[in-house]
Amino acid sequence: MIESSAKSVVLGVTGGIAAYKAAQLVRDLQRHGIDVQVVMTEAARGMVTPATFQALSGKPVHSDMWDASVPDNMAHIELSRGKDAIVVAPATADFIAKLANGLADDLLSALCLARECPLIVAPAMNRQMWENPATRRNVDRLIRDGVAVLGPASGDQACGEVGMGRMLEAGEIAEAVAGFLAPKLLAGARVLITAGPTFEPIDTVRGITNLSSGKMGYAVARAALDAGARVTLISGPVSLPAPAGAEVARVGTASEMFEAVKKHSARCDIYIGVAAVADYRVDKPSRHKIKKTERDQLNLRLVPNPDILAWVAQRPRPPFCVGFAAESRDLDAYADEKRRRKKVPLMVANLAQEAIGSDDNEVTLLDDRGTHKLPRAPKDVVARQLIAHIAKLYGAKRRKAE
Ligand code: PMT
Repeated sequence: MIESSAKSVVLGVTGGIAAYKAAQLVRDLQRHGIDVQVVMTEAARGMVTPATFQALSGKPVHSDMWDASVPDNMAHIELSRGKDAIVVAPATADFIAKLANGLADDLLSALCLARECPLIVAPAMNRQMWENPATRRNVDRLIRDGVAVLGPASGDQACGEVGMGRMLEAGEIAEAVAGFLAPKLLAGARVLITAGPTFEPIDTVRGITNLSSGKMGYAVARAALDAGARVTLISGPVSLPAPAGAEVARVGTASEMFEAVKKHSARCDIYIGVAAVADYRVDKPSRHKIKKTERDQLNLRLVPNPDILAWVAQRPRPPFCVGFAAESRDLDAYADEKRRRKKVPLMVANLAQEAIGSDDNEVTLLDDRGTHKLPRAPKDVVARQLIAHIAKLYGAKRRKAE
């Protein structure tokens, strides 16, 4: 059984123009499995209507300190009880000043003062307001008080100026919140992950590769980081940004990936092979661009690449090894055969035609205890559930060894 770790937050929306992005933030938090209760300031209600947030969150939106619909008429306390965090996005300069000084003259500021859970703020304001020494002092005070501050970013502003103060994009905030709330199941563990395709040259400009985008492997890397692991990511050629906090080695061919894995695998506790490694490479690729000739055939001699996962799993003291299997049919049977042949305790099976390149995935986990199906979900969500499962098996292996 995969354990559910449902989280819930209060999303506080204050009166900045970036309040419109908070509507998307509700959706993005939900996408990460986070339940959202929206609380708005009076000024925010002038920017976006509560009806929008009510429709998106499926819950009444609160703004009034003395809301009779809340038990005991204590909205300023009740609404954050049992929540995993309060997230204020956008957080205006004025609201940040209130928080820094412990003011509680409306529902949202009172909730923040009376909270028992972590507070996360995403500032959004004009660049001069952000650079003003008063705001700098207030933000420093919040950080010293243990408040997590996300952003801001630099760029075009609603006022027409350009500079620091833009709120982070909703997806970035949701990802950071999900990471912040993730249980630290792999605290201190060293995790080595491969991701993306490999590229096997035919000549100087051509090669054999596959459609792996790296999305799944990078999502696994982010989920491991969020779980407190130290992550090394060995990536084939993809166009994704490096996950913040991971050590990244970029490689081209399967042989280069193998060398990088050899270098790092002795110092890892968990190895996760998400990469779609080419099984074959061209024997002796041409050092010049092959010219088209009158012949109607070009024969390439292919030789097998080393099996990186099997090599890691057969080391004298192997890390906990996880493989991925992309199949187009008979998924469980082929994946289990691969698991046994490569001698790995856990194989993650997915349908190649649905998994490769897409944003979502549906996987089956195969281990000694049987099969566990995870429902189709965004790759970040699948990756978190996979990391929770790995942490459980890895923990059991360590306890057995002690
Ligand atoms: O990158 P995305 O677009 O997000 O797509 C993700 C994915 C579909 C590529 C990913 O989820 C996935 O399934 N990766 C494994 C692809 C595959 O089919 O691998 P395989 O069946 O050839 O190999 C099985 C396992 O052995 C894999 O862990 C692979 O990394 C490893 N292997 C394979 C060959 C080889 N020479 N060395 C290896 O280590």
